[in-house]
Amino acid sequence: FSSTIKASSSSSSSTTYTESRDLKVNTIPTKPIEGQKTGTSGLRKKVKEFMQENYLGNWIQALFNSLPPEDYKNALLVLGGDGRYFNKEAAQLIIKIAAGNGVGKILVGKEGILSTPAVSAIIRKRKANGGFIMSASHNPGGPEYDWGIKFNYSSGQPAPESITDMIYGNTLSISEIKLADIPDVDLSSVGITKYGNFSVEIVDPVSDYLDLMEDVFDFSLIRSLVSRPEFRFTFDAMHAVTGAYAKPIFVDKLGASPDSICNGVPLEDFGHGHPDPNLTYAKDLVNIMLRDDGPDFGAASDGKFVVMTGDGDRNMILGRQFFVTPSDSVAIIAANAQEAIPYFQSGPKGLARSMPTSGALDRVAEKLNLPFFEVPTGWKFFGNLMDAGTLSICGEESFGTGSDHIREKDGIWAVLAWLSIIAYRNKNKNPGEELVSISDIVKEHWATYGRNYFSRYDYEECESAGANEMINYLRDLISKSKQGDKYGVYTLQFADDFTYTDPVDGSVASKQGVRFVFTDGSRIIFRLSGTGSAGATVRIYIEQFEPDVSKHDLDAQVALKPLIDLALSVSKLKEFTGREKPTVIT
Ligand code: G6P
Ligand code: ZN
Repeated sequence: FSSTIKASSSSSSSTTYTESRDLKVNTIPTKPIEGQKTGTSGLRKKVKEFMQENYLGNWIQALFNSLPPEDYKNALLVLGGDGRYFNKEAAQLIIKIAAGNGVGKILVGKEGILSTPAVSAIIRKRKANGGFIMSASHNPGGPEYDWGIKFNYSSGQPAPESITDMIYGNTLSISEIKLADIPDVDLSSVGITKYGNFSVEIVDPVSDYLDLMEDVFDFSLIRSLVSRPEFRFTFDAMHAVTGAYAKPIFVDKLGASPDSICNGVPLEDFGHGHPDPNLTYAKDLVNIMLRDDGPDFGAASDGKFVVMTGDGDRNMILGRQFFVTPSDSVAIIAANAQEAIPYFQSGPKGLARSMPTSGALDRVAEKLNLPFFEVPTGWKFFGNLMDAGTLSICGEESFGTGSDHIREKDGIWAVLAWLSIIAYRNKNKNPGEELVSISDIVKEHWATYGRNYFSRYDYEECESAGANEMINYLRDLISKSKQGDKYGVYTLQFADDFTYTDPVDGSVASKQGVRFVFTDGSRIIFRLSGTGSAGATVRIYIEQFEPDVSKHDLDAQVALKPLIDLALSVSKLKEFTGREKPTVIT
């Protein structure tokens, strides 16, 4: 029983309002289900597991059982995701449970689509109390693959461990789910539907996010670059959620040609791809850009190739035959932000990176005399610093780059930041003149600051036992090591298992990665991934600083070979894991 009321004439869009009678809430009995503990970024499992009776319902209800009532009763929440398989079904259930628990209003991206950065942006802009993100990030999607759910807080930031621990606790004692008796909501058209005191608003996934990007960046500067015929730009959305954002932003707003967007249609299974921007999973694309006889992207310019992850938070920047490491990318954005990006016109407030990320950013912070922070792996560690006003730009080696405009890493932001820097450098070029390219910008940066050679080796899906033994072995080794110890040609400065004390709230995170730091600044670091979905993923991070500009043109694998060999022998990785070779090298 519902009636549709035409939007008032003052409303610019064709929003429709639908009202129905009071909300009836059913209480569904349920039982606890094992294994609903969230990892680094929410709950991620195989779709099939989520589709079991009450699996998702239990977790969502446990979440409401964990929040203080003022955070959801009559409150505003946001809901969206990366468009993967099961999202639409899940959205309907989440809406009904939200209504059943007394939420006032829920804003849902049209077709259930919102990138992770867009959810963060909308929460902040609309002053929502929080939001749900339906994504398993870079994990593959489809009926046989992964699904995931994450809750973000009113600052737009992923819920802290204190909340996720409480949710887990509640999944172990749950006995009923409060489900509103309302029909499935039509996710396909923008508009508001009211059910008693509860309402659902379907919103355009792009507009709030685009408004924010227009505040942060100088779009006319970027347009001046993108519209040059000698500048060729390619954006690869990997059939994931940024496909929904690419055309409205890059084509419609910035004037890129429609064929500069590839794999721009979001698909439920991401076109069978692994939507993770790194040198292995984005291999076809990387090969096109990096091979010697690579395509000529027009007159005098580098081609720009950019790849986004499933939920739109990661990015990879490639010039023609040139890969920009994420560690260099954030350093270069930070070094150029004040000039090229209006949001930073008074200079960034501070810079930060995760511990395994290379020290390239440290050198920028030093030169610009900015506060600098080294945090554990995990975007959540940046949030407090941002809220305290001491951090503007940050990044991780894992292809995450972002700033305090929101509280998630932001792939499109990173691309716009790079376009801004390239545009700024080429502002005074005459038509047809050779442009300053991505590789020119990076090499110039190395000449000024030195080059931090960096590589990461991943050993995915190792047996957990062996991987854990290896880490324990390394912990034992560092407890016995001391300054001045010789490791081949390297002399130890210190070795430890990284501990972080949050300067804002004093909370301590320990055992965040075993590191060996040598007197020349070289580092080898060992961690187990917190995001893998099967077995254990061992990550080895290798870094070496090279101040001498005449040695900046080596391939990273060649330059780092001695340190890589050292890392493998120090850790006895082969003995512990049985692995001869990494599954991914970045
Ligand atoms: C996610 C997190 C990042 C983290 C990355 C790798 O993307 O948001 O903060 O750097 O995963 O984490 P892992 O624990 O797998 O190395
Ligand atoms: Zn992600």
